[in-house]
Amino acid sequence: MTASTFGYFDDANKEYVVTTPFTPLPWINYLGNDGFFGLISNTSGGYSFYRDAKFRRITRYRYNNVPMDSGGRYFYINDNGTVWNPGGRPVRTELDHYECRHGMGYSKFIGRKNDIEVEQTTFIPLKDWCEVHRVTVTNQSAAKKSVKLFSSLEWCLWNAEDDGANFQRNFSTGEVELEGSAIYHKTEYRERRNHYSFFSVNAPLAGYDTDRQHFVGVYNDYSCPKAVMDGACTNSEAHGWSPVAAHQLDVELAAGESKTFVFVMGYVEVEPENKWQAPGVINKQPAKALIARYDTAEKASAALKTLTDYWDELLSRFTVKSDDERLDRALNIWNQYQNMVTFNMSRSASYFESGIGRGMGFRDSNQDTIGFAHMIPSAVRERIIDLAATQQSDGSAYHQYQPLTKKGNADIGGNFNDDPMWLVLAVANYVKESGDVSFLKHIVPFEDTPEVPSTIYDHLKASFYHVVNNLGPHKLPLIGRADWNDCLNLNCFSTEPNESYQTTQRGDSDVAESLMIAGQFVLYGNEFIAIAKLLGFEADAVDAQPHVDAMVSAVKEHGWDGEWFLRAYDSQSQPIGSSNNNEGKIFIESQGFCTMAGIGFDDGKAKQALDSVEKHLACEYGVMLQQPAFSEYNPLYGEITSYPPGYKENAGIFCHNNPWIVVAEAMLGRADKALSYYTRITPAFIEHLTERHKTEPYVYSQMISGRDAYIQGEAKNSWLTGTAAWNYYAATQYILGIRPDYNGLQIDPCLDASLGDINITRQFRDAVYHIEIKQGGGTGKGIASMTIDGVDVDGDVIDYQKFNGEHEIKVVLN
Ligand code: GLC
Ligand code: GLC
Repeated sequence: MTASTFGYFDDANKEYVVTTPFTPLPWINYLGNDGFFGLISNTSGGYSFYRDAKFRRITRYRYNNVPMDSGGRYFYINDNGTVWNPGGRPVRTELDHYECRHGMGYSKFIGRKNDIEVEQTTFIPLKDWCEVHRVTVTNQSAAKKSVKLFSSLEWCLWNAEDDGANFQRNFSTGEVELEGSAIYHKTEYRERRNHYSFFSVNAPLAGYDTDRQHFVGVYNDYSCPKAVMDGACTNSEAHGWSPVAAHQLDVELAAGESKTFVFVMGYVEVEPENKWQAPGVINKQPAKALIARYDTAEKASAALKTLTDYWDELLSRFTVKSDDERLDRALNIWNQYQNMVTFNMSRSASYFESGIGRGMGFRDSNQDTIGFAHMIPSAVRERIIDLAATQQSDGSAYHQYQPLTKKGNADIGGNFNDDPMWLVLAVANYVKESGDVSFLKHIVPFEDTPEVPSTIYDHLKASFYHVVNNLGPHKLPLIGRADWNDCLNLNCFSTEPNESYQTTQRGDSDVAESLMIAGQFVLYGNEFIAIAKLLGFEADAVDAQPHVDAMVSAVKEHGWDGEWFLRAYDSQSQPIGSSNNNEGKIFIESQGFCTMAGIGFDDGKAKQALDSVEKHLACEYGVMLQQPAFSEYNPLYGEITSYPPGYKENAGIFCHNNPWIVVAEAMLGRADKALSYYTRITPAFIEHLTERHKTEPYVYSQMISGRDAYIQGEAKNSWLTGTAAWNYYAATQYILGIRPDYNGLQIDPCLDASLGDINITRQFRDAVYHIEIKQGGGTGKGIASMTIDGVDVDGDVIDYQKFNGEHEIKVVLN
């Protein structure tokens, strides 16, 4: 255990233990695996939704409020006038003890005050659409005690965007029902909704409230809700205004006695023909069945155990033991956990993403799969199908789709010219991991040709030729609205503050070209050629090769600045990311992608580019996106120049791209540099920086402020970032070098000596490999020898055909 001011890692329990409610920012966890999700902070703030955080928001949350993190599922104790929450907020009463344990799919809060202890364990069971709160109240004193326990949450009127805006309507639509100890929220059920939600408890009520003004009071807030302070709910019935759900339980406890209550907050969809059980009365059968599955402490605990067993199994597929417990902690627990979250959420709902702005990103979701394919390959397969279904037959793609409808988002549209090639990465990585080669022949029609039985392979080919068919004057790929860097908007020219940088593209015959896409095309173009060969489509491979070769030549001829790769050509065909520019002389993306593509390994350019990254972009807190920062807004470049220097894409440390440099360094064989870049942004290695960093010390953030910022090294936008999948991919596939390939598992580490000898257990398809990697005293790159079950093998690949059971692999490094 390593302690910091705010908490510590408890690796044995796979938990982070927060020891104060007053963290620098709310530190959250994600609940839910499939359909029903919840965000929960270290003080039980947050909200829940079904599948789509915009259209099916179940509970209400107020972003950017004062104080922070207002709104959640709050439990209150009124102990003869002393009022407090087990989660430490929103009531300001100081607790005798507080801890929050964020674990894998659950959060546990333990609060103690005046010999009363409350343990609240909140989780979403594996298969049900509900959030379970197991709440145990214990009297630790030597005398009998009577306390009142209250629950509370506030319903969102389903569409989270309207809920925060359309008050003239909202204040008249709210409707609820009460039956037994369950409060039902049925706003808009009378019209077009066939779903409702509920909040129940497995005990008789001493009182309840369903109307906020009665429970909280008109001018009180959740730190002093009127009913809780008064010690009695009012049994209010909401009609319009703001429906809430609050239960009151009067709890008598003998000395030393504990009582456990189970609260269930759920979501129910009803067949339209069975909506009503009586005129105006909702059909409660499905809700009752759901409630009955969790109506005892034993049932709730069993469901929690099923969930933690599930996570233990998932995380056992790749485990590492090195000399550095921080590496093990990152790779065995938190990075994989975050990979599942980014896979599920894309960039939709976090404490920085409001859940109303964005759906599933084509670019983002494809990349998210590379950190997750080894965990649940079947889910990745489904996701790739959904993504491919939003692609057009010319290879272009909708930039986003809404998870509820799975339809491409027409408001955002396409023309982000890096999008198509990310599909090649996702498919190649999935097929290598799973061995599911037949997936390449799986039929998924293009969005614009629903009648044509196109295969996944056809999609990859369309992606490839989308780049080939969209080249600019230097035979480099046209950038369109933007490439990976959403904020490099070279065809936007916006001088209008109400205009979106992402969706505005002026002119059709644009000339702006991207060196990032050039590198991406070479890297994943080669992958496409390998797939064509794998399927025996030799002619396709032969046709494709010259396009890749021509791109390599174009990069060398028009994309090399002298000491590094250019970033782009702008709409005037002027270079960006050149020593001739006054600002933005060097960018990270093209250094990462051109070197990962293998360009310049033959003539020293790759090494030179990476040396330039070290010299100009690396700093203590990570590798900055570009230097020098842009000091003024430039309409020719767009949003990147809109940010003050040091933040976001304007010379911030945009963590997502740092692993590209890690991969490239590992390919070059510079183990120390690869590890150093990896550790600069990896949470487990920078726990000591938490006070500066502010975000959760167990997950990656999108951005850390760079050298030009007012405060350097300050993180923002935690959780939903491509950094999670990419840094995991870089560490496991390039530092540890455990790399799935079509015919087996390749072992090609680039391991710094400080990590010592390493033991890995890797489940690969149906095989389990126990891999011991011993340092050889040399460079740490590549292997000197390998044995499988004691027998020497040639090369560095474990052939899956031959070794598909459980095997011992011993490797000695160079
Ligand atoms: C955000 C976007 C991602 C983009 C990145 C860089 O993280 O989600 O799509 O690549 O910003 O602009
Ligand atoms: C903003 C953000 C960028 C994000 C984009 C998505 O430009 O700065 O990170 O990718 O919005 O629309």
